[in-house]
Amino acid sequence: MNFDTVCILGLGYIGLPTASTLATHGLRVIGVDVNPKVVATLRNGGLHLHEPGLRTLVRAALQSGNLSVSETPAEADAFIIAVPTPFRRTTEDGRQTMDDGRQTTDDRRQTVVGGPSSMLNTPRADLSYVRAAAEAIVPHLRRGNLVILEATSPPRTTVDVVAPILERSGLKAGADFHLAYSPERVLPGQILRELIENARVIGGIDRPSAEAGRDLYATFVRGEIYLTDATTAEMVKLMENTYRDVNIAIANTFARLSERFGVDVWEAIALANRHPRVSILRPGPGVGGHCISVDPWFLVEAAPDLAQLIATARQVNDTQPRFVVELTRRALGDLFGKRIAVLGLAYKPDVDDLRESPAIEVAHLLQAEGALVKAYEPYKVDAALEGLTLVPTLEAALEDADALLLLVGHRPFRELRPSEVAALTPARLVVDTVNLWNPAPWEAAGFAVYRLGVGGNG
Ligand SMILES: NC(=O)c1ccc[n+]([C@@H]2O[C@H](COP(=O)([O-])OP(=O)(O)OC[C@H]3O[C@@H](n4cnc5c(N)ncnc54)[C@H](O)[C@@H]3O)[C@@H](O)[C@H]2O)c1
Repeated sequence: MNFDTVCILGLGYIGLPTASTLATHGLRVIGVDVNPKVVATLRNGGLHLHEPGLRTLVRAALQSGNLSVSETPAEADAFIIAVPTPFRRTTEDGRQTMDDGRQTTDDRRQTVVGGPSSMLNTPRADLSYVRAAAEAIVPHLRRGNLVILEATSPPRTTVDVVAPILERSGLKAGADFHLAYSPERVLPGQILRELIENARVIGGIDRPSAEAGRDLYATFVRGEIYLTDATTAEMVKLMENTYRDVNIAIANTFARLSERFGVDVWEAIALANRHPRVSILRPGPGVGGHCISVDPWFLVEAAPDLAQLIATARQVNDTQPRFVVELTRRALGDLFGKRIAVLGLAYKPDVDDLRESPAIEVAHLLQAEGALVKAYEPYKVDAALEGLTLVPTLEAALEDADALLLLVGHRPFRELRPSEVAALTPARLVVDTVNLWNPAPWEAAGFAVYRLGVGGNG
């Protein structure tokens, strides 16, 4: 199938790189976003999100004349839906909090009153953006078109949610237009390269739909393209992230068990991984980011009776910040009034991404215990987070600390020299939750060292 014009709904981290890449590969692209600020920013030559290389790519796409941006869709040969799929959590008092991992703490804590009590504590995917995008396509849908859903979605969303909406056009999915699901697996920070090089799975509601999807992505994808059905493709995306989450949960469980049994989990994992068929991941203060900590809930929601393991893994990882607070309490005694320098707030090493970060939760929990927290995030020195004191330098975090709590294995922390740190702080105690630091030089510099997952610490 040949495509001249593609309409992409949602110009975020996924939609905008995809739109620009298609445009620089010769297709005419209408980029649509319901947020007028996004459209205005792009029209004025600006960029509303940070991704290496994206500014240059968007500029090239706009200058080629192939990319235009709009608040409303228009007729096209193909439509790609790349809108958010956040989830809503129901709190114990029956309120629902929305979390799309891309909002400010303020927005994120915004509440919508009135969750039914039977859904207490069950995070649920919010498909309202997907529905709205499909509805916006309906007036423009023509016979022979292709529609692709890229948003991470619960199983059967393409066939049970998107197809019926599109069929309000009077056209029948499969018979009159093609419909497919294609998950996005790019790594933030490397989106432009991975968009082109990663293998891609395309699931059609029928074979011609999958093949039409392949023809579209083949215009720019250099990785392998695998065809399957739509629901399998949805499952593939959710299984990938759930696999990671469950494996991190077992590493965290091993850390908890090791502390109880007087074992060093890091040594035990290294030895276990000498087995040719074992590859245990690293424990830590929890799981964050906007994918791994979110996507498994889509499976739990879809089949709670079958997904207990996944729900338990989520619960283990979600309670890991609390476990870190208990470790800190064992190291420091009563936390009330203790000054703690929290080192690192990002959800993983060497990124500036704070979304869903367990480190932020640890900091909040410590404060709830009465600790006086100063947090330092070297990759986001200008960040402001409601209810937390962020300081712009390591020195400021350390100057009056009683203890250092290392939550992220950033490179600048790896390079710290214990003797130099000792000169910057009255603290003589460190808690390392990511096994970044070799205890010996820290102890030689006068620090007591507590490590996550190590029994008989300190
Ligand atoms: N960002 C990633 O690294 C990544 C990776 C894999 C999968 N995903 C998935 O891709 C999807 C999109 O994620 P993202 O990170 O690009 O989101 P994003 O929040 O960066 O961007 C989404 C954009 O869609 C716009 N939008 C909302 N409703 C719309 C509508 N009805 N019509 C047009 N535009 C609309 C929003 O204004 C926003 O600009 C999500 O399902 C996400 O889970 C993201």
